[in-house]
Formats: sequence, structure tokens, C-alpha cells
Amino acid sequence: MSQTSSAESHPIYPPPADFSARARVPSMDDYQRRYDASIADPEAFWAAEAGELLWREPWTRVLDWQMPFARWFDGGKINVCENCVDRHANGPLRDKAAIIWEGEPGDQRTLTYGQLHEEVCRFANVLERNDLTAGDRVIIYMPMVPEAAVAMLACARIGAVHSVVFGGFSSESIFDRLEDSGAVAVITADGGWRRGSVVPLKPAVDEAVAKYGKIKRVIVLRRCGNEVAMNPATDVWWHEAAAAAPATHSPAAFDSEHPLFILYTSGSTGKPKGILHTSGGYLTGTYATCKYVFDMRPEDVYWCTADVGWITGHSYIVYGPLANGATQLMYEGAPNHPDFGRFWSMIERYRVTIFYTAPTAIRAFIKAGNHFPAGHDLSSLRLLGSVGEPINPEAWTWYHQHIGGGRCPIVDTWWQTETGAILISPMPGATPCIPGTATRPFFGIDAAILDDAGNECAPNQDGRLVIRKPWPSMTRTIYNDPERFKKTYWSDFPGLYTAGDGARRDEHGNFWIIGRLDDVLNVSGHRLGTAEIESALVSHPAVAEAAAVGRPDDLKGQAVAVFVTLKAGFTESEELRRELRNHVGHVIGAIAKPDDIHFAPGLPKTRSGKIMRRILKELVCTGQVTGNITTLEDYSVIATLQQKIAH
Ligand code: PRX
Repeated sequence: MSQTSSAESHPIYPPPADFSARARVPSMDDYQRRYDASIADPEAFWAAEAGELLWREPWTRVLDWQMPFARWFDGGKINVCENCVDRHANGPLRDKAAIIWEGEPGDQRTLTYGQLHEEVCRFANVLERNDLTAGDRVIIYMPMVPEAAVAMLACARIGAVHSVVFGGFSSESIFDRLEDSGAVAVITADGGWRRGSVVPLKPAVDEAVAKYGKIKRVIVLRRCGNEVAMNPATDVWWHEAAAAAPATHSPAAFDSEHPLFILYTSGSTGKPKGILHTSGGYLTGTYATCKYVFDMRPEDVYWCTADVGWITGHSYIVYGPLANGATQLMYEGAPNHPDFGRFWSMIERYRVTIFYTAPTAIRAFIKAGNHFPAGHDLSSLRLLGSVGEPINPEAWTWYHQHIGGGRCPIVDTWWQTETGAILISPMPGATPCIPGTATRPFFGIDAAILDDAGNECAPNQDGRLVIRKPWPSMTRTIYNDPERFKKTYWSDFPGLYTAGDGARRDEHGNFWIIGRLDDVLNVSGHRLGTAEIESALVSHPAVAEAAAVGRPDDLKGQAVAVFVTLKAGFTESEELRRELRNHVGHVIGAIAKPDDIHFAPGLPKTRSGKIMRRILKELVCTGQVTGNITTLEDYSVIATLQQKIAH
């Protein structure tokens, strides 16, 4: 049942009484009391959460904060994999399902914690037998199969630093990550199933590895049986190596600040940033948020539909749920294979209780039609989640009604690759949900909205979202680039973390996230830098200059529109348009292919030669330009572009 907020006309959905009755955080009073205490003494809150994990040696100091560099639980020794696997496999959860997996063709597998332990031990031995050791960087480029999680956990177990590259990225993107991370090994597969076909993965790895030249070992999982070229100097089959390896492995203890993984994400320059996360603090953040935000119970069947190639897959498929001893569902393929009923059929068949997905997927389901969910029994669901972009109220309401049957709270979780874990979200048994707001900060998270001068904004005034106190799962640095780390996140307001998002806080204290303030697009919940797309375009021989901007899109949230000025001697054509799209796909990956390509004889520039993207954005969003254009060098450019867009 929804009520309506008096100050604004947003419907309010209080948590269902039966949900609150058994929730860890059962009321707003309880949330507020615990939140206030956690902000008064964040170290005490986080230390209590970390204390629920298994430490080989206790920490001597909770936080060492040399702004902007944090060290959490210093002196403590921990093995992240042991916490996610051994702790459960060696106890009463041994025979509990850890991962229930379904391949796109319909094949199924269940790994209990005991079986997961065996797989991880074997693979940790494989890594060590191939001379991998603590601190080595390993690229993982895999489909959504249990072995992707096994590979990550085995790296964590031996202290190797994984860097997962989403399977939709190109070989050039793999190469960039190999080079930036200085990786010595790659774990990949022959391919994965997507929309009824095998998508090969190994050829992209082969190309990148050949160009890079510093890889000692490529370990290849046979998933689809498609033909792959094996290089005898470097390549080994996963199944052969694992069969020869012992099923036991003793995990070493690592410093709490030992690097766990690097995950590359887009920023405002052409070069993706290697976001570094470390061990004890990251695990504490993902463990605690999973426990409270999803209010996880031993009997839950949890399903996060993200890919392990993104931070959501790291924090809320691998580390958070497994640290909680959860049972989770993992799915390999596309949501619309064989049709848009796939997810709902899986929820029905596996009796999923907690479902976590992205607004872009919800919008695609709305478009596909209500009859898909209506044809399935979704009564097992008790909690829904959303992540990746602001959820528009229409999508929220549909999700609540058609998937949640009007009875499930929805946790709209705001966070980032850099934050490692959820920072703003409802507590499902306590917080009244309002479609479109991520509501309140998590315990220990001191979030605020500031104006450009650094003053706190008044209620409902738009500003910049900042976090004022360090938290354990925060990124420690940009790999190899501490200066960029300082400049990007810590220089707008000294001492405060700038998220790069615009937001406002209503008079009830709810955070409404508006979107990125920098040159980063959010396409289907994925981050893409406009500069990355531009540099991909100008690497094509026909392109003199390019500018990329986002425009609203009903399904993707944002679509990519680019303006391209051709070099002399090249002419506009549909064929060239197609070629440029494919070129961007080749350089970055299919997710970055522009939706609209406008050929432009000139781009709007300031007198100093800077492209005025603001104007281009207004043009693609509204078809006209109303803002201040006094700094524009050549006014005629606008009229020409306006004509182009109109056609
Ligand atoms: O703009 C915010 C948006 O996604 C950005 C982070 O992207 P990424 O690092 O790829 O991580 C995505 C998954 C955590 C943020 O800066 N974003 C993420 N979640 C939300 C959101 N915007 C609004 N509401 C959300 N719940």
C-alpha cells in the first residue's frame, strides 16, 4: 500500500509489517539511533562488523587516515577466500548450496560450499603450480559461469590480484588492462552462450596477449567446446590442470591492506582508471552491506543479475554474499533468451527470494509486456533491489507491482566502483521507500550535498554528492596513478570524497541522485567516458575530430550521440557511419557503439579551441540551443548542426 508524502506528491511505500517484524533493522527509529551512533564513532561500527569475519591475526589499529590514503584494520591478517569459502565449508554450511548456476542453454549445476571449496583449492594449486604468487596481477576474461567466481576466489586465496575484464570488451581493451596492470597471466574460456550463440572469448585474449608479450600463462576453461587455438608456450586447459591438482590447499594470511583486485572503470579522460581495492576493509564493507541491505537470511535464495565483469558482480555476487554464507543463483546468458520470460521462469523454478537488477533491464521488461512475468509464480520473492542508475518512478512502480506483487520492498542502492559497497540505500525493514530516491546513507557513511563553494545545500537544492568520512571498502588509489586519484576524488573539497554525481536531499533527508556531473555517460547502467569514445573515433583514418555526448533514451537511460568531422577527402555515407560504429566496437567493445552519428562540418568551439559539449548536448536533447553561447567562436556552426539533427 502506498501513502502520499505531504510536502511533495511522491507516493511513499512503508516497509511491510511482516518484513519489519523479522528484519535486522526493524524501524526508522532503530535505523536513526544506530546511524547516529555509527557517525559519532564510525570506527567502532566498522570494527564490530569486521569482528564478525575470520582474522588470522587481529588488527592493531582500525583506521590510519593520511588523507586521501586510508589503511583499515592495519596489523590484521586475513584471507578473503577463506572467509568466503572455508569458513562455511568447514562448518554447518558445508552442504548448503553456495552457487546454483544455470547456463543459457538450460544446463544446471549446484556447488555446495564444500564443493566450491574443493574447486577453489584445486584452482589455487593450479595457479601456484604455474608460478603465480602473491601480488601478481591476473586478468580474468570469462563468461558467467561458476568458474569465474572460482578464479577470482583462487586468486584471492594465494594473494594474486585479479582484474576482471567484462566479456563484452574488445581485445584492445584487454591489451590496455594487461599493460596498465602489468599482468602475468590470463584466465579465460573458449566462449560463452549469449542469445542462443557461442560468443568466442579466446581469440580476443590471443590477440591482446600476442601484442603484450609478457604473459607467462593463459588458463582456458572449456565451456562451449568451440574450437580455439592453444599456444603450447603459454596456454593450458583448466580441466587438465585442475584434474592434476590436489583438492586441498592451505590459505596463507595476508595483510588487511593487501591488494585484492583492480577493476577498470571509465573516467573523464580517454584512459580507464584502475580502481584498486584491498582485502580486510573491502570484505567488511561488502559483508556488512549485504547483511543489512538485503537483510540476508540462511534460507534466502539470492539472485544478482550483474556480470562479474562489473563491480556489482564483484561485491554482490562473489564477495558479499559468499562472506554471508548465502545461497545464490547465477545465470550465464541473456534476459530475453529464449524470450523475456527467462528471469521470471528462473525465479519461479529456483524459488528466488531476493532479486537485484538494474533499471535498464526493468525498462526492457516493461517494454516486452506484462504477460511475461504474469505467466510465472513469483510469490517466493520477498525483496527487490535496483542498482546502476537512477530508477525512474515508472520503472520502480512497475517493478514493485508486477515483480514484487505489491508486497516486496525495493532497495534502490547507490554506490560506485570506487566505493566498493553500497553507500546509500533503504534498509528494507525500516525505510519508507519513495520511487526514485536511494533514501538514506548506510551506517558509518557521512554523505552530504554541497554547492560549488563547499557549503551544505538547503533541502531540495541541487549540488555535489560528497562523503565526509572514510569507509572501509573505499578504493585505496588508482593503480599506478596516485596523483590522478587525488585530483579526481579529493581535490574539489579538500578532505572530502567527491563522487562525481549531482544530487539533492529532500526535507525528509532522502538523497535523490540526479546523475553524473563529469564527462561520464551511464549507458544501460554501464559507465562510459565520452573521451574514450572520442579517442576511439579519432583513431579511424577518416576522422579529424569527434565529440560524444549523452542523450536520454527510454531503454538505456542514456544513449551515445557523436559528432564527427571528417578529414578532407572523405565523404559522409551510411557505409562510413556503419564502419565508424563498428570501429568503436572494435576499439572498446560493443557496449560503446554510438547510437547516433552526426557528420558535422565543424564543431562548436570556444575561442581557445575547446569543444563546447554543453551545446551539443542541448542540441541532441532538445533540437535547439538556448544557453549562453557568447564564448562561441563561430555561430554559424550551430545553424548547420541544427539542420543536420533535424534530418
Ligand atoms: O552515477 C551513479 C550511478 O552509477 C555510477 C557508478 O557507476 P559504476 O562505478 O559503474 O557502478 C555501478 C554499480 C554500483 C554512480 O556514480 N549509480 C549507481 N547506482 C545508482 C546510480 N545512480 C542513481 N541511483 C543509483 N542507485
